[in-house]
Amino acid sequence: MAIDISDRYVAEHTRGATQTALRTIIALSPAILAYRRALRWLNQGRAHEGSAKCRITEALDNCASHFQQHRWALVENFFADDFHRELISQWPGRYELKPPRTLAKSYDTGLSWGAGNAEPPRNIRKYHTLMQLRACLCCVDFSRRISHVHGRSVNLQCNSFLLHMTRSGSQVFPHRDSYYRAKHPALNILMFADGQGGQNGGGLVISRDNEFKDIIVEAQNLRNSALLYDVKADFFHGFRPVGKGKFRWSMSAEFKGK
Ligand SMILES: [Fe+2]
Repeated sequence: MAIDISDRYVAEHTRGATQTALRTIIALSPAILAYRRALRWLNQGRAHEGSAKCRITEALDNCASHFQQHRWALVENFFADDFHRELISQWPGRYELKPPRTLAKSYDTGLSWGAGNAEPPRNIRKYHTLMQLRACLCCVDFSRRISHVHGRSVNLQCNSFLLHMTRSGSQVFPHRDSYYRAKHPALNILMFADGQGGQNGGGLVISRDNEFKDIIVEAQNLRNSALLYDVKADFFHGFRPVGKGKFRWSMSAEFKGK
């Protein structure tokens, strides 16, 4: 859950035609959900086969010293090229996701799973790439790698996964996650699969304040990159309204320790 949101930022960034269009989508979400449910039913037998193995490159391991110093790190060339190509080629249709329910997080999300899911949900099983990615994020070797990046002798395990797609005007208000106040360690990876990036591209922003006035980093390249951050670090995250005609395809994975 998002905490520590600025009322002033919300008032300033929920005005205008694009935000009004998003309000309409939110109001229509029950009808959109029903329509997408029908599309999923029509496409239920369609499997997305593939051959690429999920490999997350050494760029991840190489960011460890930066992460341990700053509690965030930007990683380029996150996935091996063949897996990234296949991930893009079988990127799910929007009908697999839920429409936004609030202006605070106004993008489509879905294809989620949590640590409690012993078996992958049925909609994930249709996608070779998402099954590969799940196996990779949950394996012992990746736990070791991500714990090494975090430092401080933690033992992090993948706790949840979510896939996202933005539209014009989509945004996430600058916030902290409620887990910020928990005593256990946590690290989030936001993986960017595709998008134009650049100015108003929907790149994740990490900021010292909750109005994006004192920005530490903003992801610009959204094609096969990732931004990692320590959920317990003293900064905020979110992204600014996505510009007209731009999109971002992304996934997040949360890692927690005891
Ligand atoms: Fe968050």
